[in-house]
Amino acid sequence: MQQPVRIAPSILSADFARLGEEVRAIDAAGCDYVHIDVMDGHFVPNITIGPQVVAALRPHSAKPFDVHLMIAPVDPYVAAFAEAGADIVTVHPEAGYHLHRTLQLVKACGKKAGVSLNPATPVSVVEPVLGELDLVLVMSVNPGFGGQSFIPQSLEKIRALRRMIDAHVAAGGRPIDLEVDGGINRQTAVAAVQAGADVLVAGTATFQGGPAAYADNIRALRGG
Ligand code: DX5
Ligand code: ZN
Repeated sequence: MQQPVRIAPSILSADFARLGEEVRAIDAAGCDYVHIDVMDGHFVPNITIGPQVVAALRPHSAKPFDVHLMIAPVDPYVAAFAEAGADIVTVHPEAGYHLHRTLQLVKACGKKAGVSLNPATPVSVVEPVLGELDLVLVMSVNPGFGGQSFIPQSLEKIRALRRMIDAHVAAGGRPIDLEVDGGINRQTAVAAVQAGADVLVAGTATFQGGPAAYADNIRALRGG
């Protein structure tokens, strides 16, 4: 069942020279999750942050850290991000040979497990592992950079995943967040929620205008 909309600002669009303050500011502005994009310059063409930065940010907010790992191989780093303070660890199926094993590794670290689907990755990939999942993330841009335009075909994938998750829950499965990431603004947020998303990642749309605007930005993304 679709849950109330939650907003997960991507700190990729924050001021990296003041990351702790930025995390405190989005927390105070009413975000639900803190979305942390981890990139390795190999799985995606950009390099961001590692577990030490996640650990340094941990004291700045008690809200769930939603850590999106865009790194390959991913298995050798799962424990480090778990220990650094991740609450949700999301991986891409292309980042290792054995997705089920990777998800078991996340669970063994005591963390919530997510799978992220690139624009060209079919939704059927998650069907065999729904029982292991707490979150499915639909990439609505190609991963690597903030500030890209929403790919409209993502909406059909969100609809298909909404049906899949609802059937899973109706059959006794645990609830699974349906998160969308990339190009979310006030307009695409409405379309994504109508399609069935219940967690919206937003980098540009949260951080635009600076700290004084964060609360209004988050409220607008939530639907006013
Ligand atoms: C892209 C990242 C996104 C990105 C979103 O690889 O996963 O989280 O930062 O940025 P916006 O909201 O600016 O599209
Ligand atoms: Zn992300």
